[in-house]
Amino acid sequence: MADAPRQPGHLWLEGKTVVQLRADQPRPTHMPRGPAKRTGPGFLNPAMAPARTRSVLLLADALEHHWLVKDGHDLRALDALCATGVRVRRWRNEIPNQVQQRLRITANDLDDFALDWLKTSHTLFPPVIAVGHALEDDRYERPPQGVMENGIFIMKNDARIALMEAAYQWIDLDPFGSPVNFLDAAIQGLSRIGFLEVTATDTAALTGSSASSQRRRYGAKGIVDTYAHDDAVRVLLGLVATTAARHDRVVEPVLALFDGHHVRVSVKIRRSKESASEVLDWMGWRIRERSGAYRFVQHPTPEEVERGSGPMWIGPLWDRDIAGRLTEERALELCSPSTEGIQQATSSGLEWSEGDQEYAQRELRRSVRFIAEAADLMSRDHLLLHIDDLPNMAGVPHAPKMEVLFTALRGLGACAARLPDIDPFFVTDATLPTVLDCLRSLVTDS
Ligand SMILES: C[S@@+](CC[C@H](N)C(=O)[O-])C[C@H]1O[C@@H](n2cnc3c(N)ncnc32)[C@H](O)[C@@H]1O
Repeated sequence: MADAPRQPGHLWLEGKTVVQLRADQPRPTHMPRGPAKRTGPGFLNPAMAPARTRSVLLLADALEHHWLVKDGHDLRALDALCATGVRVRRWRNEIPNQVQQRLRITANDLDDFALDWLKTSHTLFPPVIAVGHALEDDRYERPPQGVMENGIFIMKNDARIALMEAAYQWIDLDPFGSPVNFLDAAIQGLSRIGFLEVTATDTAALTGSSASSQRRRYGAKGIVDTYAHDDAVRVLLGLVATTAARHDRVVEPVLALFDGHHVRVSVKIRRSKESASEVLDWMGWRIRERSGAYRFVQHPTPEEVERGSGPMWIGPLWDRDIAGRLTEERALELCSPSTEGIQQATSSGLEWSEGDQEYAQRELRRSVRFIAEAADLMSRDHLLLHIDDLPNMAGVPHAPKMEVLFTALRGLGACAARLPDIDPFFVTDATLPTVLDCLRSLVTDS
């Protein structure tokens, strides 16, 4: 197998981190949303950059706000399928220096080429801060085998073994396709209170556009309509929650998004037999009504199943406080490179124009756009609507601008916020009749 290049094909900056791209991989273009055109060892999928940025922000938040481990305590984080390690390198480079010494990072993959690539990149472009944790040998009967490279412990293992060998407080699961094969091991690999981030790129199965895969992998039935993206998120969350319950654990969703070509859910998981026994209280079906609205039910009739999708998670999707701190300012503060950082990277061969910098800042903002504003509604009961569905439902020729509708709803004492989706979705705590009345009066008055 070929070694990762000592001299890179060319360099790229993701967040503050210098990334080596293969010579035959084009520089990422504006707003990469779909899957990378090429894949294979060493290819960086730029469409996943926003998810990696959110991962940096969430991990920093856990360390700074102590919602996973107590102040002063270490946090062990594992990227179980790390590939070339861009995520773990970003954790080491971009999480604030004040909390770096408390962060123990392990990176695992089965692919030698990818791991060599990680080691080479991390040696050529080391983190600003030196973190030299010794491996905690005393914790394990049989310490995991691997090497320590500039503050990242690197292992080559089947992920299922890596997950079971030690107890981590933070686990990232980012496989090709479906995560189902790794979920049991990931949940068992978490410490008593932990955090799990799961990516799934098998969106056809999650939405139900591939009905047989959805049935097989997720035990669910879908309807591919306006709600397919939200259903996909809830079907994956449902699987994570029921899998956790089988291991006497309970989930609390922190962030759950459909992001173009993948679904990503981030949940706190804690051991509690009692709460785990209640998991089915959070599971149900989304039933479509003739009016165009939907409602969640726990025990659908056979007729409702016909016009329903599920079973899926029907509880809250985000944590209000944590998601509320994922602001654009925070993304720039943590992940935007300083002028000196760019100068240093350009002296090592990075080509970085003002246009690139502008593009990078836009991408960082886009990674978290609309999240903080929607955090409150997404953490409690809400109604999800697509603005383009409303004219039909209200019997009016067109919809007003979303912001105009929001102002009118707020005038009635309701909350409303746009969702981070490529399509114009919003959430509100107003009832559907209120939204439609509001729309009619706005369109008639205009
Ligand atoms: C989608 S990539 C991970 C991307 C990475 N997390 C990132 O952000 O750049 C999936 C990785 O899983 C690895 N992989 C697949 N099956 C595995 C297994 N059973 N154990 C460990 N690694 C595995 C592949 O080698 C590949 O590098």
